[in-house]
Formats: sequence, C-alpha cells, structure tokens
Amino acid sequence: MKKEKILVIGASGQIGVELTLALRKIYGGSQVIASDLREENELLKGTGPYVSIDVMNKEMLHVQILRQNITQVYLLAAMLSATGEKNPPLAWNLNMQSLLNVLDIAKEEKLHKVFWPSSIAVFGPTSPKLDCPQQTIIEPTTVYGISKYAGEFWCNYFFHRYGVDVRSLRYPGLISYKSSPGGGTTDYAIEIFHSAKEKGSYTSFLNEHTRLPMMYMPDAIKATIELMEAPAEKIKVRTSYNIAAMSFSPIEIANEIQRHIPAFKIDFKPDFRQTIAESWPQSIDDTHARNDWGWRHDFDLSRMTLDMLHNIN
Ligand code: NAD
Ligand code: SER
Repeated sequence: MKKEKILVIGASGQIGVELTLALRKIYGGSQVIASDLREENELLKGTGPYVSIDVMNKEMLHVQILRQNITQVYLLAAMLSATGEKNPPLAWNLNMQSLLNVLDIAKEEKLHKVFWPSSIAVFGPTSPKLDCPQQTIIEPTTVYGISKYAGEFWCNYFFHRYGVDVRSLRYPGLISYKSSPGGGTTDYAIEIFHSAKEKGSYTSFLNEHTRLPMMYMPDAIKATIELMEAPAEKIKVRTSYNIAAMSFSPIEIANEIQRHIPAFKIDFKPDFRQTIAESWPQSIDDTHARNDWGWRHDFDLSRMTLDMLHNIN
C-alpha cells in the first residue's frame, strides 16, 4: 500500500463515490477519508472513514487536513451546469471559493498533490464543434463554464507561482449507475437507461441530434488515477487536460438501447438545457493527454450500453 493520506471532498456525489472506492483499493480504506456536506453514501459505508466537511468553511477544512495528516486532496464539490444556471451567484461562489480554499491550504501545508476537475463546459459557441483542441477559442456562456475556466487558471497560477502540484481533467459528460448525477446537462444519458429498464420509454430534455462528448465512469476513474500517479514531469498542461472517449446524441444512444430492448421508445421535449448543450463542442481532441501521460479509453457506446443495462436493476 502506498503511503499517502487522501481527502476526497464531495465523496457522496456521482464521481466521489466511485473515486473514493477506487482510491481505497489502491491506498487502503483507512488512508482515504471521504467527506461531504451531505450524509455518507450507502456504498461507502464500512469501507473507510467519513467526516462531514463544508469546503466553504476554510478553517474547518484546514483543521481536518492537519488533524488527519492529509497529503493529497481530491476536490469534487461543485454545482454543475444545469443547477448552476438556476442560481448563478451560488454556483460561482461554491465553484470558485472551494478551489481557492483548497489551493491556499495546499500551498501552506505543502500537500503533495491536489486533483480538481474542469469540464467540457469551458468551451462555448465560438469554440470548434468537432475535435475541439486543447488550446482554442474559449468563451463559455454558463456560470459553470466560466467558473471552470477561471479555476483552470487558478490551478496554473498556484503551480507556477507556489509549486502546488495541482492536476486537472476536462471531464466530458459522465455516465454511471452506482450513484446519481448531480444536475448536469448530460444527465439525460443516465436517466435514459433507468427509464428504459423501468418504463420502456424516455422523454429526452435534449433534442434528438444533440451530440456531446461523453465517457463511462470506469474510464473517468482510470483517467483521474493515472493522471495523479504520472510523474510530475509528464504533466505539461497545468490548466486542465482535454480527455475524450466517445460522442453520441440522444437518438444514437436510443438506437443502441433498442438493440437490447427492441420495444424501447424515445421522444423529445427540449428544455433550457438544450441551449447549454448547443454551446458545447460535439467532440474533443485529447492528443495532449494521450501523448503526455498515455491516456487510453476502454469504453465506446456499445460496450458502455451493455454494461449499464446489465448493472441497472
Ligand atoms: P455531484 O453534484 O454528484 O457531487 C458533488 C458533491 O459535492 C455532492 O455530494 C455534494 O453534496 C458535495 N458538496 C456540495 N457542496 C459542498 C460543500 N460546500 N462542502 C462539501 N461538499 C459539498 O457532482 P459530480 O458529478 O460528482 O462532479 C464532481 C466534479 O466533477 C465537479 O467539479 C464537476 O464539475 C466535475 N465534472 C463532473 C462531470 C459529470 O458529468 N458528472 C463532468 C464534468 C466535470
Ligand atoms: N456533465 C457536466 C454537466 O453537464 C459537464 O461538466 O454539467
């Protein structure tokens, strides 16, 4: 087992649950402290320690980091794109202040590493739609995207100015079955599987041809851990890495589900999330991640669909 003591903030969320479980396998249950504002997720119970932390309370966070001898922090607490548009000041405050609190403590306590996720939401309508490159025009139109882009530059700043080894990925929409999604524009691609199995039909809040970059959770967890374990000299992008696995639209995922559930039906009632989705690229160029630290994905649409349908009860 490796000698690190890890704090996962936002551990009861969609990514947090699976990331905490994966880190506990590598580092040992007692070495990975799960924390969240909400109660401990059922799947985490009995697998390692849990503490209640509000990441906005910097003093409390600092005390916990010292008390638990933390050497690495994974910061996952945030408000996602769709929820963020309902309360922009709250989203900006949480997404920015949480990161600044963690970076400041990391600098002061000389933490070994910090992970903080960005998103494809940094891109906006003026970014290239296809194979959107690492460096390009970036003019986000959601408060979530603005907060992620600003956050990327804070990471870059703390690395170059203070030597904080903070690493980041621009996750695409993430699809999983173990824990519920937290209010994103890409959540339809999770709801559709549950609805297909429960009702045999689904009404999509995005229209049929809205293609977005997506990734299955096991790939996202693999990317996160590989990025964090890579030697520091291989991490050449200190804002946030583009990563990609697949792209599909609601009609394409519906067609894939129909291969397993032929009677499955889909219809479309786009809401405010359609505008958000249309502002994002359809596909992402992740050459830098592939070249710098060897990123490779395992799941495409058909393999993910098979696994989701198999695992959702
Ligand atoms: P989520 O909403 O499922 O989980 C976030 C967790 O943070 C929740 O459990 C919530 O209770 C907790 N939290 C909120 N405020 C807190 C606070 N003040 N103190 C402590 N905990 C608090 O989100 P997620 O989908 O797991 O996303 C995690 C990170 O990954 C976010 O930064 C998100 O922007 C990013 N991301 C997610 C996706 C995706 O598709 N899920 C895609 C791109 C980027
Ligand atoms: N899945 C996320 C969202 O839709 C992308 O960051 O908000």
